[in-house]
Amino acid sequence: MAEYKLEVTTGERFLSGTNDHVYVTIFGTGGQSERTELDNFGFDHVTGTTGTYTLSTNLSLGKLLLIKVEKSRFCYLPEDEWYLSKIVVTTPEGEAILFPYYRWISRGELVELRGGKALKGFEDDHPVLIEHREKELRLKKRLYRWSIFAEGLPHITHFNNVLELPAEIRFSYTRDGNIAKVKLDTFINLHHKEMVGSTKTWESIEKMKEIFQWRKTTMSEYVSEHWKEDDFYGFQFLNGLNPKVIKRCSELPPNFPVTEEMVKPFLEEGSSLQEEVKKGNIFLSDQKKMEGIPPRAYNGKPLHVTAGLCLLYLNPENKLMPIAIQLHQQPSEQNPIFLPSDSETDWLLAKMFIKNVDSMDHEAVQHLMKTHFLAEVYTVAALRSFSGIHPLYKLLIPHFQYTLFINTDGRPTLFGPDGALSISSLGYDGLTELMRRALSETTYSSLCLPEDITARGLESIPNFYYRDDGLKLWDIINSFVKAVVEYYYPSDSEVRKDNELQEWISEIFTHGFLGNKASGFPESFHTVEEVIKFITMVIFTVTVQHAAVNNGQFDYYSCVPNISLLLRKPPPTTKGQSSMETILETLPNVGETVNFEAMVCLLSETYSDMVPMGSYPDERFQEPAPKQMIKEFQAELSNFSEAIATRNLLLKIPYSYLDPAHIENSIAI
Ligand code: FE2
Repeated sequence: MAEYKLEVTTGERFLSGTNDHVYVTIFGTGGQSERTELDNFGFDHVTGTTGTYTLSTNLSLGKLLLIKVEKSRFCYLPEDEWYLSKIVVTTPEGEAILFPYYRWISRGELVELRGGKALKGFEDDHPVLIEHREKELRLKKRLYRWSIFAEGLPHITHFNNVLELPAEIRFSYTRDGNIAKVKLDTFINLHHKEMVGSTKTWESIEKMKEIFQWRKTTMSEYVSEHWKEDDFYGFQFLNGLNPKVIKRCSELPPNFPVTEEMVKPFLEEGSSLQEEVKKGNIFLSDQKKMEGIPPRAYNGKPLHVTAGLCLLYLNPENKLMPIAIQLHQQPSEQNPIFLPSDSETDWLLAKMFIKNVDSMDHEAVQHLMKTHFLAEVYTVAALRSFSGIHPLYKLLIPHFQYTLFINTDGRPTLFGPDGALSISSLGYDGLTELMRRALSETTYSSLCLPEDITARGLESIPNFYYRDDGLKLWDIINSFVKAVVEYYYPSDSEVRKDNELQEWISEIFTHGFLGNKASGFPESFHTVEEVIKFITMVIFTVTVQHAAVNNGQFDYYSCVPNISLLLRKPPPTTKGQSSMETILETLPNVGETVNFEAMVCLLSETYSDMVPMGSYPDERFQEPAPKQMIKEFQAELSNFSEAIATRNLLLKIPYSYLDPAHIENSIAI
């Protein structure tokens, strides 16, 4: 007689347990066990517990290959899904083998678990495993399919609503409940103020700020007090919601004829623009990508979206100050260059139009397209291409958790033709065109932070915490990925013959970057080094980059005068004609403001089941080496989290968005 000890763990999520009958059959190279019910005295498979069962066979089954799990109805109870986390089998020879699952099981489903070491396709040497892997991949390709959302944008999953999503990638019950609660709170708080749907213009900026009395953060209060100040305006280009825009300016564009005379009063005494350009102290935000995109109609007339230019100066106090703004690309008399010395409201309006465009770039391009939509591409391609036993599946899948859910759920409500963003100045069609343009210009190196910082000439600009924290995290992720990838791919030839890995990158190239060779994105992998860099970029994007553009949304957007996605009036064409009234007429009306605020509230909520970056609650690796690498990764992240906390104590405006303790392990909001 040979005895197998099975430790069967049921998930900790709400309603994970089951009352159904559960049967297992173990398959090994020496044969298979009887189909055996997992039934101890008392209750079995209770949420958050591990049951131990013994399964006897006449002889040892040899090397274990698969465990088949079946679940069938107990009495006449209705469907009773079970969240099976893992089974650990201890063989008669004393070896403990991990069979991870971490999914829901429904009645009648055929479930076969593979266990043990992570293996690439060409390493499977038993016909049963080879056949199982082929069947698994065929099934996954049928289950996860591509769909086109809009011409010229990254492809998306074919699921139209979250109820269609397979159990593998569904949200937890906790998070479902939480989202509904936030929606409800937001609705009640705002609705009670009878502002929803109001077309009135705000009476004053102060009144406008009041709508968020019931919810504040230290940063949102800071923003609402300092939004008018030029140094805080410049600060936001570095550490605000959209740190991906400005570039060091080595030469003024010919269509931006800023003269020495115009900016002299704002430079260090005795200095000149030319000198400051030479010293590397002049920076530029050029919004030419917006030119010609038709804005949406508003009360029957088109709104105004400017393709502006904003010149910034790093002053001797290390503050980045806006010193000149031109709101359209072509200089003309109706397109004056606004200066800080203009009337307060002229200068505020000019700054607002630049920020309006910046906010649409932020939401549609930097947030939605470059993190959410690209993450969806990496996820769908991984679900289609990798077997669950593949080492890179085990490495990547925790970083894709909930991404298909949040995108499928959020696409219509946030981005769709009737979504919250459709009331921005560009509207749905304009934002889609903006994303299309942005994707066609997106290069691989622009998504790799070290290269992006160098290309924009921002290596040495002081007080740039997004860069400092981002680069450090890039290195931490890179070291972890390097260790794991080199462990599983000792040579480049292993990379070249790994069909699942090649298929993953090929699908990403085709469905994410639409086969654009000029983008520099890889379409296949030749070396271990290429794989390390790409996976570093993927994990960085879905953790760090997403946090940088997502986590501050409430802080900054809750003060609408600071950033508004919608401006109702045309931009100023002559100086000295504006007043505070013009500003209030230009900003969104009461109802529109409330809509934006509700969106921002939902987007920046943290949820009770948030998984912080680098924590892997699901145990997927059997081997000690990757487990050790995960521990080292976590230790590095935790040290860095402490370093950020210490640094922030010394800052007037702390930067916490890239504190690993606040970064989610995947895009889940
Ligand atoms: Fe997000």
